[in-house]
Amino acid sequence: MNESDTAERLRRIAGDWGFADIYSYNEEAFSRSLGFLDAQDMDTLVRSRVAIPGLGGVGGVHVITLARSGVGRFNLADLDNYEPANMNRQFGARVQNFGRSKLDVMVEEALSVNPFLDIKTFPNGVTNDNLDAFLDGVDVVLDGLDFFVFDVRRKLFKRAYELDIPVITAGPLGFSSALLVFTPSGMPFDEYFDIEDGMPDRKKYIHFALGLAPAALHSKYMDASVVDFDAGKGPSMNIGCQMCSALAGTEALRILLNRKHVKAAPYYVQFDPYRRRFVRGRLRKGNKSRLQAAKAWFFEEVLLKKARRIGCEPAEKPKTSGETTYWPMLLEYLVKAAVQAPSGDNIQPWRFVGGEETLDVYMDPEVDDSFFNVHNIATLIATGAAIENIAIAATACGLAAAISLFPEEGAPDLVAGIRLRKSPDVREDRLFGSIWRRNTNRKPFERKPLPDGICDRISQVAKESGGDLHWVNTPDELERLAKAVFIADRIRMEREDLHKHFIKMVRFSDEDAERTRDGLPLKNLHAGMAGELFLKATKSWKVMRVANALGAGKVGARFAEQGIINSGGAGLLTIPGMQPNDFASGGRALQRVWLTLTHYNLRMQPMTAVTLFRLAWLLDGPEVFSTRHQDMLRHVWSELETLYPEAWKRGPVMLFRAGFGKPIRYGTYRRQSDSFL
Ligand SMILES: Cc1cc2nc3c(=O)[nH]c(=O)nc-3n(C[C@H](O)[C@H](O)[C@H](O)COP(=O)(O)O)c2cc1C
Repeated sequence: MNESDTAERLRRIAGDWGFADIYSYNEEAFSRSLGFLDAQDMDTLVRSRVAIPGLGGVGGVHVITLARSGVGRFNLADLDNYEPANMNRQFGARVQNFGRSKLDVMVEEALSVNPFLDIKTFPNGVTNDNLDAFLDGVDVVLDGLDFFVFDVRRKLFKRAYELDIPVITAGPLGFSSALLVFTPSGMPFDEYFDIEDGMPDRKKYIHFALGLAPAALHSKYMDASVVDFDAGKGPSMNIGCQMCSALAGTEALRILLNRKHVKAAPYYVQFDPYRRRFVRGRLRKGNKSRLQAAKAWFFEEVLLKKARRIGCEPAEKPKTSGETTYWPMLLEYLVKAAVQAPSGDNIQPWRFVGGEETLDVYMDPEVDDSFFNVHNIATLIATGAAIENIAIAATACGLAAAISLFPEEGAPDLVAGIRLRKSPDVREDRLFGSIWRRNTNRKPFERKPLPDGICDRISQVAKESGGDLHWVNTPDELERLAKAVFIADRIRMEREDLHKHFIKMVRFSDEDAERTRDGLPLKNLHAGMAGELFLKATKSWKVMRVANALGAGKVGARFAEQGIINSGGAGLLTIPGMQPNDFASGGRALQRVWLTLTHYNLRMQPMTAVTLFRLAWLLDGPEVFSTRHQDMLRHVWSELETLYPEAWKRGPVMLFRAGFGKPIRYGTYRRQSDSFL
């Protein structure tokens, strides 16, 4: 049903109730505002035109707030459609509206408040070409643009300033709202925020955030690590959006009704009901003031640099134009996404062969000669994870990926043949954004048990991919598991082959890490200064053996033990069989589990000594361990059997710990994609 049909239908209903036009309708529909507004105000509002660019979390609520306040005319612009991630805050986000245009939905919503509204729509959003039309006849603008939309916002504010039209910006910051009003009697937008042409986007965002809320009340309870400047995404809440609408709506009425005390920028306010605080002030020089400039410097040079993970950067998605598909570019992008997968010691044991609409994924059976890589199972798991990344990234490029594991008999290294097909029905996988954010976090996590609901959800994710995930998450169970993990890690430190392999994979200097682009950068181990010194001192097996004799092996294994204790839960992911295709599927399931944890902003670290030793024991026999280690491992097996009674009988893919905690600063690198092609 189009807009005029909707208006027609709603007017008929209003007509049945005896309302022939907006005046008779408003007389009754908005009569309860009388007392705060008078008849003159009502008349002014019905004749007022409000422009709202952007109908998301803030703009959508603005429309309804002002329609219910009696405003009669709107100019509305938005070019986006609703998707599930809008649900937490956007007015028109409802399941039945998924995929529908925000503009169409919000027009319907506004008309169902007042069917006699006069609404001009701008379905291409606000652009250079329609700026004047969008501002034509407008009394006030309420900024509903996304935080990260910048160029058009600057142009809009500039043009409105020239045309003497006030613009109100209210930003939802957690539970709070920060408000600024721009009128020709105050400071212009660019001057207040200290923004100029050619400034890097990141700097513009910082200036915008600092000028919007100089007191930053929300920063006390915000986890800034989830802000993704590159993807243009930050956290936002429905309560903050409602708050914005209350503040901006009040200011709009103050302006429209010509009431006194409009306080234009550089005046600012922020109201935070969570902190029960209201601040207002005047930034005489805007962001150019010394204090604001110092804050901007600190934000950029200290906070952001500290928050930024050192390591590889997200690849840019190739732009496809119309029907043309640039296969080489797409394939390269998919390979870049694939290699973000985890691999034992970051060895990156995969190769890719691309064709027209196909991508074959091979494992490299030679590259990982570690004792841990039992029958190439660690390599298979890593390759499975890379395959899952391809399937997920393909959806973001509008491609359906049909995956056959081990498609050719006699080609044991060809783990998957992937057929890619362009399809309009493909929807971006919700885990796509996590591909580049996922990492191994070896820091201690909070000792806060993971909620059962989250554990169940992640187990369900594993099940959907053919895996089985069991959790232990009570302090008692974690304590017992920690002891078993301690024993396994001690064995790891006491084996010459594993020690030598591990030292071979540690990149002791930043230069080495950046040059080889594989292995484990020393800082990525988050071992602390003492741990780093210990690793450097025990590079040689001779020294390590002496250190072990002096009990250093135990000290090292305490890290793993403490890791389990300092976590919210430990999961054991298993698969039904023990064939290569089971482990490749297990790798796919592992990747979905890990990306889901990342999606929830939870941290994760594999603790695989237990599971990989178990595989060596099962597949090669206990005698691959010394008799002392066999005795130690028998104890580990019996503990694991009691802790994970169901799972222990199945093929082990990975034991890992997960929990709430701080993000890592030092990540790992990946080799250039052409080295795998
Ligand atoms: C099969 C497998 C076993 C792993 N085992 C461990 C482990 O025991 N301990 C650990 O800290 N990380 C382990 N990792 C994580 C890798 O070291 C990590 O994925 C790799 O260094 C890349 O870093 P990233 O995960 O941060 O991208 C394992 C990964 C895989 C795929």
